[in-house]
Formats: sequence, structure tokens, C-alpha cells
Amino acid sequence: MNKIIIAIDGYSSSGKSTMARDLAKRIGYVYVDSGAMYRAVTLYAIEHGMASAEKGVDTEALVKALPKINISFTPAGADGVQHTLLNGKDVEREIRDMQVSSLVSPVAVIPEVRHRLTALQQQYGREKGIVMDGRDIGTTVFPDAEMKVFVNASAEERARRRVKELTDKGEKVTYEEVLENIRERDHIDTTRKESPLRKAPDAVLLDNDNMTIAQQMQWLLDLYHSKCQE
Ligand code: CDP
Repeated sequence: MNKIIIAIDGYSSSGKSTMARDLAKRIGYVYVDSGAMYRAVTLYAIEHGMASAEKGVDTEALVKALPKINISFTPAGADGVQHTLLNGKDVEREIRDMQVSSLVSPVAVIPEVRHRLTALQQQYGREKGIVMDGRDIGTTVFPDAEMKVFVNASAEERARRRVKELTDKGEKVTYEEVLENIRERDHIDTTRKESPLRKAPDAVLLDNDNMTIAQQMQWLLDLYHSKCQE
């Protein structure tokens, strides 16, 4: 069977990453989490005094530092999870915390950051056989992807899922702060000038508010098989 490119875009905490990773594992494809790349750049900016809650993001300094930021992934372990490496260091846990979440969208509006990460993402897709999730994969990174999915769920349901994920990891967060962060990121992601989050005209909408993980996987597999036959 010919390998294709699968682009999964959607709002924050809509479950894109889990579904993209599970789908890739199921069909033997490579999975790339493009959000992790934006998160890693954000962590670099925080660690180097270029981003903070008080001062926001120092765009000029970050753009200058871009050539020094290398992002890669470890191969997926037995659980199917790959870890993000920032200049060779495993930062998988740090990039998921609330501090990074609250600064990542302002970092992701910077055109130079987007151009650099888009080029890197396109390299991963050269051989096809890839599932990539993010905000602009079906619109900007792989506009010719054979299968495009746009995922959504209500902000409240997404906040509930994210609180559970973070508290399971031992992070102390409130529902209110997570919901506010989700709304804030939705706003920045959909209104930015460069590659805003929007559904590609040929993407299939998946509203997963009331879907179980198993139902969602079946939905994705059905779509995948139909796209491979086209
Ligand atoms: O996992 P979650 O849905 O919270 O977000 P993520 O996929 O880890 O992405 C984090 C942030 O990076 C998003 O809120 C966007 O601001 C940005 N992002 C982007 O601009 N373009 C992408 N292709 C992926 C993420």
C-alpha cells in the first residue's frame, strides 16, 4: 500500500496528540508532534531569559538565537511515546508544564520561528508514512497531505481533559486556570497573521466531545483506509 501523509490539526487539548500517536502506532507510521517543537523553542527562551510571565517574549533575542536551537526526537519507546530533545537534552516533561503552555502561543506567532520549524517538519514528511499533529499542518506544512483531519471539542471538555492529564502527572493546577489558558491560546492561535489555526477546506471535521477513544480510532482507521484507496 502506498504511504500517505496524515495531517491532524485542531484546538489545544482536543486530544490530537494522543490520537495521532495511537494512529501512527496502529498503521506503522512515524508520528511527529509539531506542538512539542514550539514548546521546546519556548522552553529555550524561558531558560535563556528571553521569555517570562512578567516581561513576555523578547522576539529579537529569540530570533537571533534560533540557529542555536536544535530540536529532535528520540525513537518511540514501547509505550509509543517519543521524547523531545532540546539541544540533545530530554525535555519531554518540562515542555508540558503550565509555564511553557502560557508562553508558547506568543512564541508561535513569530514568523521566523514558524519558518524554521515548518522547514524542519517538511523534512520529516519527505518519505511520507507520517502522522503529524498541530495547528497548520494541513494548511501550511503539508497542504497536499492525502488525509487531513480537523479536531474540535468544547473548551470546557478540553479543559477537563487537560486538568486530568496534568494532575495525573502530579502538577497542581485548577480547572479555571487551565480553561483560561485554553481560551487564551485558542484566541492567539486563530487570530495570528502567520498560518492561523483554521480548518483546511479539504479537512474532515472530527468533533470528539462525546466519542470514546475506541470510537475515535475506528473513525480514523475508516478514513485512512478510504484515503488509501483513492
Ligand atoms: O497539546 P496542546 O493542544 O496543548 O498544544 P500543542 O499541540 O502542544 O501546541 C502548543 C502551542 O504551539 C499551540 O497552542 C500553538 O500556539 C503552537 N503551535 C503552532 O502554532 N503550530 C503548530 N503546528 C503546533 C503548535
